[in-house]
Amino acid sequence: MATMQRRTINPSFLSLYIALGLLFACASAKVFFEERFEDGWENRWVKSEWKKDENTAGEWNYTSGKWNGNPDDKGIQTSEDYRFYAISAEFPEFSNKDNTLVFQFSVKHEQKLDCGGGYMKLLSGDVDQKKFGGDTPYSIMFGPDICGYTTKKVHAILTYNGTNHLNKKEVPCETDQLTHVYTFVLRPDATYTILIDNVEKQTGSLYSDWDLLPPKQIKDPEAKKPEDWDDKEFIPDPEDKKPEGYDDIPKEIPDPDAKKPEDWDDEEDGEWTAPTIPNPEYKGPWKAKKIKNPNYKGKWKAPMIDNPDFKDDPELYVFPNLKYVGIELWQVKSGTLFDNVLITDDPDYAKKLAEETWGQQKDAEKTAFEEAEKKREEEEAKADPVDSDADDDDDADDAESEADSKADSKDDVDAEEEDSVKVKSHLTLQFGFDQDLQLSNNVL
Ligand SMILES: *[C@@H]1O[C@H](CO)[C@@H](O)[C@H](O)[C@H]1NC(C)=O
Ligand SMILES: *[C@@H]1O[C@H](CO)[C@@H](O)[C@H](O)[C@H]1NC(C)=O
Repeated sequence: MATMQRRTINPSFLSLYIALGLLFACASAKVFFEERFEDGWENRWVKSEWKKDENTAGEWNYTSGKWNGNPDDKGIQTSEDYRFYAISAEFPEFSNKDNTLVFQFSVKHEQKLDCGGGYMKLLSGDVDQKKFGGDTPYSIMFGPDICGYTTKKVHAILTYNGTNHLNKKEVPCETDQLTHVYTFVLRPDATYTILIDNVEKQTGSLYSDWDLLPPKQIKDPEAKKPEDWDDKEFIPDPEDKKPEGYDDIPKEIPDPDAKKPEDWDDEEDGEWTAPTIPNPEYKGPWKAKKIKNPNYKGKWKAPMIDNPDFKDDPELYVFPNLKYVGIELWQVKSGTLFDNVLITDDPDYAKKLAEETWGQQKDAEKTAFEEAEKKREEEEAKADPVDSDADDDDDADDAESEADSKADSKDDVDAEEEDSVKVKSHLTLQFGFDQDLQLSNNVL
């Protein structure tokens, strides 16, 4: 009887438990911010005035783009070349202390991006959203960055104690012209995970993959190499002896092929001597051959000691007053489309959202893209039947059908200008964020 009961009751208990568990899991997912860019999005986002007075502030286009999996699912897309973009949204301030933080969004580079960012930022404290720009301090900067052939990576920059720290482990980003979902997960045990399209690309610890704190251990600065430490890997062979007569071999010998010229007159020209040539037998000063040193101890290394400057911070992962999410970009070529921005404490919820949006639409988007590409190629071939092959080889112009109508010489000048901008914008990303705008300004 008892076993019967167990058999009949337990499974239903179990399913009830699972149902409750799921309900609880869903109910417990805290969503701090979710933006699918549906009606009313403009009330939630503030376009910055940054760069407006210099006429270099770009306009956002509310669109699903040239190819998509659902024309009604719109996002915001950069729409003007050589422009700065800055837009942000506010959410109720929160701290991620003791909680997981998930930051996720989708991005599509329709322009076949060859240099530019597709990242977003989380900002803390009070920010004047109308003035939000490249100088505004941020807490987290996350997302893809592409520049030329060398930079194709996912940034995960964390601001700690007022300094921006780049992630040290390289995470390659997507480089095609389709939508991809980027997810950053930060956990209270100071571990993190970066996902693209719900697939884990990198995971690790804040301690090892960023230089937020001074190193835990350092080489002992007091340590000295012991006097008798033998760090010569090879030594002259003591058994090897100089062959007899070695030093008598001359460096140069008279050229045996040289002949006294027929018109040589010993009386007038003096006694003829053959010119000398290098002696093939001569091997230079004698050196004993090298052998492995039997006393070799390896390269000397100072022992590691605890770094007196290291002080652990158990709240290394904490951003105590997150309050805004923003996009701040400089784009040489526009066409980057952002959508489905999410800030939550629940990686499963983020995964589900990605599946419901990107996951549902990715196949249709790919088909639409392939059709658009086919159409573009056909039109290009029609417009420029002779030159079309050459154009295909030219990376910079490939995605730029408008460029086709320009004269060739003009194209060259544009490409050169573009390159210099590329290099600068690439450098700024490598060497610090304060200089970013100045460099860009110089170029403009
Ligand atoms: C906005 O995007 C759509 C779809 O790509 C495009 O047809 C339209 O020209 C764009 N508008 C602007 C102002 O760029
Ligand atoms: C924070 O920055 C200040 C000033 O740069 C520095 O003196 C201090 O040691 C830093 N603290 C930590 C925990 O890194």
